[in-house]
Amino acid sequence: MKVGSIFLSLFLILVLLLSFQSLKPKMGFEIPKGWPKPLYYFDGNEYTEEKFELGRKLFYDPILSRDNTISCATCHVSFSGFAHTDHSLSHGIDGRIGRRNAPALINMAWNPYFNWDGSMGNIERQSMEPIRHHDEMDFNLDSAVARLSSDKKYAALFREVWGVDQITVRRMIQSLAMFTANLVSSNSIYDKVMRKEVGYSFTTQQENGYRLFKKECASCHQEPLFTNYKLKSNGLPMDPFLKDYGRSAFSEFYKDSFLFKVPTLRNIEFTFPYMHDGRFKKLKDVLNHYANLDPKTRHLSKELKKIKQLSSNEQKDIISFLYTLTDKEFLYNNRYQFPR
Ligand code: HEC
Ligand code: HEC
Repeated sequence: MKVGSIFLSLFLILVLLLSFQSLKPKMGFEIPKGWPKPLYYFDGNEYTEEKFELGRKLFYDPILSRDNTISCATCHVSFSGFAHTDHSLSHGIDGRIGRRNAPALINMAWNPYFNWDGSMGNIERQSMEPIRHHDEMDFNLDSAVARLSSDKKYAALFREVWGVDQITVRRMIQSLAMFTANLVSSNSIYDKVMRKEVGYSFTTQQENGYRLFKKECASCHQEPLFTNYKLKSNGLPMDPFLKDYGRSAFSEFYKDSFLFKVPTLRNIEFTFPYMHDGRFKKLKDVLNHYANLDPKTRHLSKELKKIKQLSSNEQKDIISFLYTLTDKEFLYNNRYQFPR
């Protein structure tokens, strides 16, 4: 009897341990120390190296566009943090010009919602949008799946990754999400200074910039992701041609006018041009905007109502701090480049 109950409790402990193990998300990356947990937990889309590689291949392949000319990477370029440095507004199929700047794709797994107005709630479904979008890849999902299915290489790859013969929209977008959700940048100079790695420290100017940043900017561009993922207005006047009302065009609430998702500032040195419409080419222009904000600007978020009138030296200090957010290991990571 006694031996029996010892066995029973050992068995229960084993079951408990195993279930904890299976609760642990299978991600391609470790959560960087001190960071919050990501929101995309790869539930129902378990990480495998093969799936990541399939997603990467799809990301770089124009096969998902109607006329085989545009891939995700046309607009999201790795060495600019997956933003599009050449264009303020996105350029898609047949030279069609979109209404917004292609955002950087950095630490996507932490994003509660996607797009400049937060109109998309899920990173898997997000991948459908550019494929269908008239100004981006202008295709339809079933035709994309049919095209992949009739391609011997893809048919074999999908079979290997998913263990079944049929390619579906779901398997296609989950494979793409495996790539985009794994784009993690956490090895900038800033990170190394914070981790107190030997040989890394801020210069006096960067230190000064960091102090100002924490006071004037970090309420929205919150560490360590450099965004709080809220929808805010930083007081940009509306472009009269684009007439982009931000969140309110999607939610139809007047109070949401000119609200845009606070973007991360990681790798900001390379993700120009800046803002939802790419109106600023240089960080100097961005800082000039914040330094000259009129607190009475309509819809301006409260965090910016009392911003200090930054002197030109203070602006330079902040920029020198922002450069420490450049993560060369991310920008030039072989795993993220065009697959060979
Ligand atoms: C023609 C250019 C273009 C192409 C091609 C393109 N995108 Fe985008 N992408 C954009 C633009 C512009 C936005 C912002 C849209 C908005 O805010 O309304 C965006 C937004 C995103 C976002 C959300 C980023 C965020 O911070 O919220 C993800 C993820 C993304 N794209 C992934 C992809 C994937 C995957 C593909 C290929 C299937 C792709 N994109 C193809 C231009 C493009
Ligand atoms: C009220 C919250 C808030 C505060 C405070 C704030 N920002 Fe922003 N920031 C935003 C929003 C929202 C955007 C996107 C606006 C848009 O595209 O219309 C943005 C965009 C940016 C961008 C462009 C990013 C890109 O990828 O295009 C930079 C750079 C930037 N902010 C730097 C700063 C600096 C430096 C400070 C402090 C001086 C600061 N921000 C303070 C909300 C804020």
